[in-house]
Amino acid sequence: MDKPETKRLASYNLDVHGMRVEIRIEQSIIDFTPQYMVSFPGIGNATKLLLLSFRGELTSMVSIDPSRVQDERYMKSLDNRYKEVSNILIDKYIPGIEPQMKVLLTSYIVNMMLGLGDLEVLIADDSLEEIAVNGASDFIWIFHKELGWCKTNIRPLSDESIYEQSAAIGRRIGREINNLAPLMDAELADGSRVNATLFPISQGGNTITIRKFAKNPWTMTAMVKNGTIASPIASLVWLCIQNEISLLFSGGTASGKTSFLNACSMFFPPTRRIISIEETRELELPNFLQWLPMVTRQPNPEGKGEVTLYNLMVNALRQRPDIMLVGEVRTKRDAETLFEAIHTGHSVYGTVHADNAQDTVVRMTNPPIDVPKITMNAIGAVVVLFRHRSKGIRRMLELGEILETGDINVLHRWNILTDKFVQVSELTRLLETLQLYGGYTKKDMTDELEEKRIVLEWMVKNNVTSIDDAGYTVSNYYKNKQKVVQLAKDDVKFARDIF
Ligand SMILES: Nc1ncnc2c1ncn2[C@@H]1O[C@H](COP(=O)(O)OP(=O)(O)OP(=O)(O)O)[C@@H](O)[C@H]1O
Ligand SMILES: [Mg+2]
Repeated sequence: MDKPETKRLASYNLDVHGMRVEIRIEQSIIDFTPQYMVSFPGIGNATKLLLLSFRGELTSMVSIDPSRVQDERYMKSLDNRYKEVSNILIDKYIPGIEPQMKVLLTSYIVNMMLGLGDLEVLIADDSLEEIAVNGASDFIWIFHKELGWCKTNIRPLSDESIYEQSAAIGRRIGREINNLAPLMDAELADGSRVNATLFPISQGGNTITIRKFAKNPWTMTAMVKNGTIASPIASLVWLCIQNEISLLFSGGTASGKTSFLNACSMFFPPTRRIISIEETRELELPNFLQWLPMVTRQPNPEGKGEVTLYNLMVNALRQRPDIMLVGEVRTKRDAETLFEAIHTGHSVYGTVHADNAQDTVVRMTNPPIDVPKITMNAIGAVVVLFRHRSKGIRRMLELGEILETGDINVLHRWNILTDKFVQVSELTRLLETLQLYGGYTKKDMTDELEEKRIVLEWMVKNNVTSIDDAGYTVSNYYKNKQKVVQLAKDDVKFARDIF
């Protein structure tokens, strides 16, 4: 039963590599943030401490060859070796234990030793967005998709163990973290992004921050469904993409820029060749597209072998893409190459850090990016994403068209009070560009947008939120628009074979 002064916000079980783990999230009246409580049924705290106490002995009995950690067969044999040794140690320290309990304890130990310890539980929870280890003196924090920041009941064993975890993460992909290189970006095998820092650079102790990889790549259908964007505005974005108009997606940290870029990929026609350039692999496009995902590489400890975003952009221009996706524009060279790509006939979709549409132009035209304002007009429009911290929601804040002068004209804006999107001005340059590229009359354009809205809303109603199904539907629309629009108007139940 709940304690009287706490409210239970959620409770569920997780399967962590075959081990059942219980999660309870509670809000106590004396705390400012909810508490995320992890418990291992059957394993009490005393047992856990005992297991931890022979951790050192276990490590000394099983030697790991760091150069082989990427070898699956080797890791499997290590797994078996840990099981054997755990059994020996359990017999030694907890003699006479029941066989069932022994199996449970063994799987707990193997989990702790082979994986990332207690972090494995948090990594296994798909409702988390972020995991933050802030040194050994603080409990681990997590960012829950619905509940925001919560404090867990897990505290790292020691700063040394945080260091070991980050070193293990780095080792897997050939990166090092040490006193001379105390900051590290890396990723987990499942694609989650990791950043690690060491004391004394991080004064509170060693840190690890994990941005969990979203298992279901974002689609525009999912974004319309959860209210991030209204369907008529999403239709305009669609029309731009269909007509090869380049777009920028901006917003603050974790506002959803990359996710929005991903969501747009369902509108890419299957007849195009696509190259994406990122610092870590985040994008996931419909599987039938011709897509070359490329990632940058940091220099090795001797400072060699670096591959930058700029290198990849220049290289991409020789790979004959029709569409180029750029993870994040940070430097002048990145931006110049991006505009070069647009001027040589590619459509480019990129993300940039900025708080609103106006600020996007300011960011792009001032150091460190600092491109001349007039060059901005190679971009058709800017979509700004926004995360409302206290409400825990993400919304398209603004959609603005870029004028001939490189200035921005905001067309749609989110109203925070009503949670509605308001049209604040008429399309001018974007209308001209669309009419020019698409050969539309004004009436054609209204019809196009309306048809797209109907198809999008039908997809939302039918839950066509997976990237492959959504991309497949749009590709069919490109092949036979009338048929798909009719299916939507007739409200036919979605299935892949209806097209
Ligand atoms: N529209 C949305 N609705 C709900 N959640 C979202 C939405 N967009 C993104 N998210 C979630 O928010 C988190 C951050 O998203 P994302 O990585 O796209 O942000 P970002 O702006 O690219 O961040 P960064 O500044 O680190 O590059 C992810 O966990 C993602 O699943
Ligand atoms: Mg991003």
